[in-house]
Amino acid sequence: MRDRLEELAEEGLAALGSAATEEDLRRVEQDYLGRHGRITAVLRQLGGLPPAERPAVGRLANEIKERLARELEARLEILRRSRLEAELAGEGFDPTLPGPPARAGSLHPIERVRRELEDLFRSMGYAVAGGPEVETEEHNFDALNIPPDHPAREGHDTLWIEGGDRERLCMRTHTSPVQVRALRRHGVPLRVVAPGRVFRQETQDATHDHTFHQMEGLVVDRGVGVPHMLHAMRSLLSGLFGRELQTRLRPGYFPFVEPGFELDARCPFCKSGCSVCKGSTWIELMPGGLVHPEVLRASGVDPEDYSGFAFGLGLSRIAMLRYGIDDIRWMMSGDLRFLEQFDA
Ligand code: DAH
Repeated sequence: MRDRLEELAEEGLAALGSAATEEDLRRVEQDYLGRHGRITAVLRQLGGLPPAERPAVGRLANEIKERLARELEARLEILRRSRLEAELAGEGFDPTLPGPPARAGSLHPIERVRRELEDLFRSMGYAVAGGPEVETEEHNFDALNIPPDHPAREGHDTLWIEGGDRERLCMRTHTSPVQVRALRRHGVPLRVVAPGRVFRQETQDATHDHTFHQMEGLVVDRGVGVPHMLHAMRSLLSGLFGRELQTRLRPGYFPFVEPGFELDARCPFCKSGCSVCKGSTWIELMPGGLVHPEVLRASGVDPEDYSGFAFGLGLSRIAMLRYGIDDIRWMMSGDLRFLEQFDA
């Protein structure tokens, strides 16, 4: 029986060697390794052997099967490669046929809103500025008139970075430090928007996430005042919602502006109260104000000569309003079921 098996191995290898196509190879495979193949047929007779010999013969049969299977794989690989080479050489390969369609991705809702707003502001003469996400304490707080003992620091739930050797570093808690960076770098007059990610040590819920997006606006020039700020904010709103919305200004406090405001807009979704405006018909949209003289001074600008306004837009919140997204945690989830809704 051993001899018969060895013979089969020889024959099988020879058959594989002379097979010219994949079908030939598959036929040899069936013929030798298949359930009704020759090796199996021999193994059926195993029961007729004295029990002491069975294990050794069984082992030999398995070894032979493996040898044939390895050879089969190697031959298949050679065929595949030569087919590929032939295709590349132009045989049977038609380069004019369209390829499989590429699956296009989609823009994240925040990315869409960011691009739209950047376009809008560019058309009004603003430049787009940026700054690092890992920020110095000085830019994120001190230069913005938020000294170390200032209560506003507590409201920011800052993520501090360990091991900054020259300066204390944190994950920026807002995009406002870009005001300081842009002024120091480019001087006045200046008109910029600065979109980007910001980070806070927040407990996550439907309206809070540890990572979210803002867009800062800053204009500094001679004689800039509240009417200029209002005009910029209103243009932004009509750009976003495609029509004029009634607005109102309330006083608001932020250490880096004086006076400071909160701009509200009439709820774009209802007339008499809905879940978005929580029944009030107004939605809080954007804080802003006139840049504090201390901030101008810290940024190398003389507040006697120049004045400016700044505002901070919650890009995440705006995208949520715009697309009716009810939970901010979707934004950074990376969940395709969410993202695919913004196709096209
Ligand atoms: N940086 C503030 C925050 O994240 C938002 C802000 C308020 C920005 C007033 C401004 C501003 O530019 O004038 O909470």
